[in-house]
Amino acid sequence: MKPYFISTAIDYTNALPHIGHTYEKILADVLARYHRLRGREVFFLTGVDQHGQKVQQAAEKQNISPLAFTNTISEAFVTLWKKLGISYDAWASTTNPVHKSVVQQVLSNLLKNGWLYKASYKGYYSVRQEQFLTDKERGEDGEFGAEWGEVVFLEEENWYFRLSDCRAWLVSFLEKHPNFITPSFRHRELKNAATKVNTDLCISRPKSRLSWGIEFPFDSEFVVYVWFDALINYISFAGYLSTNKENSFSTLWPCNAHVIGKDILIPAHGIYWPCMLHAMGFSDEEMPHLLVHGFWTLHGEKISKTTGNVFDVTEAINRFGVSALRYYLMRDAVMGRDADFCEERLISRYHSELSNGLGNLLNRTLGMICRYRPEGLLSIILSEECSTLLRDHMTLVEDYCKQMEASNIQAAIESMIEIITRTNIFIDATAPWQIAKHADQASRLSSILISLLQSTRIAATLLMPIAPDAAHEIFQQLALDPISLENHVSIPSFPEKYNAKTAIPVFPRFVEEKIIDPTESR
Ligand code: MSP
Repeated sequence: MKPYFISTAIDYTNALPHIGHTYEKILADVLARYHRLRGREVFFLTGVDQHGQKVQQAAEKQNISPLAFTNTISEAFVTLWKKLGISYDAWASTTNPVHKSVVQQVLSNLLKNGWLYKASYKGYYSVRQEQFLTDKERGEDGEFGAEWGEVVFLEEENWYFRLSDCRAWLVSFLEKHPNFITPSFRHRELKNAATKVNTDLCISRPKSRLSWGIEFPFDSEFVVYVWFDALINYISFAGYLSTNKENSFSTLWPCNAHVIGKDILIPAHGIYWPCMLHAMGFSDEEMPHLLVHGFWTLHGEKISKTTGNVFDVTEAINRFGVSALRYYLMRDAVMGRDADFCEERLISRYHSELSNGLGNLLNRTLGMICRYRPEGLLSIILSEECSTLLRDHMTLVEDYCKQMEASNIQAAIESMIEIITRTNIFIDATAPWQIAKHADQASRLSSILISLLQSTRIAATLLMPIAPDAAHEIFQQLALDPISLENHVSIPSFPEKYNAKTAIPVFPRFVEEKIIDPTESR
């Protein structure tokens, strides 16, 4: 089976990571971890977008070289992803010489095949967005809006990619491949935009204006437009054009999921990228899949440094811990839709679903085994009520997998919560503390205790991709392995004799402002 290849957008290194970058990397990490749990080989690629005007300007402000500047910011990304347990397999940094060489080879091939030409253009240019503007971009008052930042009039010679020659192909490709994008409502939006492609893409910047980029291999006066450079990361870091004997590009490509935010679908990933691949000779079957997520807002407003509506991820980790933050971001956002970060909801979900839900289940289960079976719990054949409970759980595990396969992480988490809720209800309904009073019901009690352990084991397995540290802690305390999700989902058999350890709260309640991550404090 082909490895599951998942990538994220590579983040601009003009500023420190924020909650949007964080959400996206966790989302991709959860899917990567889920697919590994299914026994698949996974290639998870993430990284940083280091070239372009934004980085050059940010470096100028600090009076340091763009390379020194981008290296410092890139380090901050690496440090944060490490803290958050982002389990990437390869790191894309666009200053990497291998990437540079692939970009240059792609350009030379495109030139050879007639896809590029040089021409002069004059018009209004947005410094912030690094693009020429047309009258379409003017507001109702005839002016270019604040979103374009500083707008200057320029006349320039540049290199162009024959994007408009790809329009007919792109429109027909999108017609034939309704599954190109998840969620599907984005497909309609993209098809509409594709029919309107009528200009070619300027893919160079004169060095006189922007020197921080990859040099054109056949025209040293120019560097490559940052998007044309950045998009190629998806193939250059997967081994495209590599002469290395162990090159795995042909087995890795196409990418199963380019995880990106909704702001970079049109035109970058939905128009430029498939057209670039098409021009490079990739077939329709070799087009990647796009997984487009929504945006996080804070207090209902756009996250923005200029307005001061910001959120410090490191501070949030210090306050809530990695597990709570990962869980909340995955729990509160429906795939593809926007979400608003709400601290009260983070705390309330953590308390009700993790502390009172899974954490309590673990505590109760281990507590009852210590109390009622201090000599050890012996394996027995489960009673009908317990077999039914576990059978129903396994149906929910199947639902969880279906939702994960469709990248609906939030819906998958709901299946996990359902297992926990049902098990806690089962405890209250069967009241093992009553059964324990009757010596003639010893085997029923053992059966219930075993099924509680198995239920906790199932739920903790499903938590693994979402909050790996907390799940690991639960398995340490359970002293059992996760259930198997490889090929067929199945619960491993119960040991002959099981001795429970005393439970330590994995999800301690947030008593005061200061919240300590249990997995980090031990
Ligand atoms: N460098 C480009 C991507 C090149 S990919 C070949 C870029 N970088 S970015 O730093 O601006 O954004 C990186 C990712 O973060 C994008 O997918 C973007 O959509 C996402 N987000 C930025 N702000 C966000 C939110 N407020 N919420 C969720 N995701 C957001 O674009």
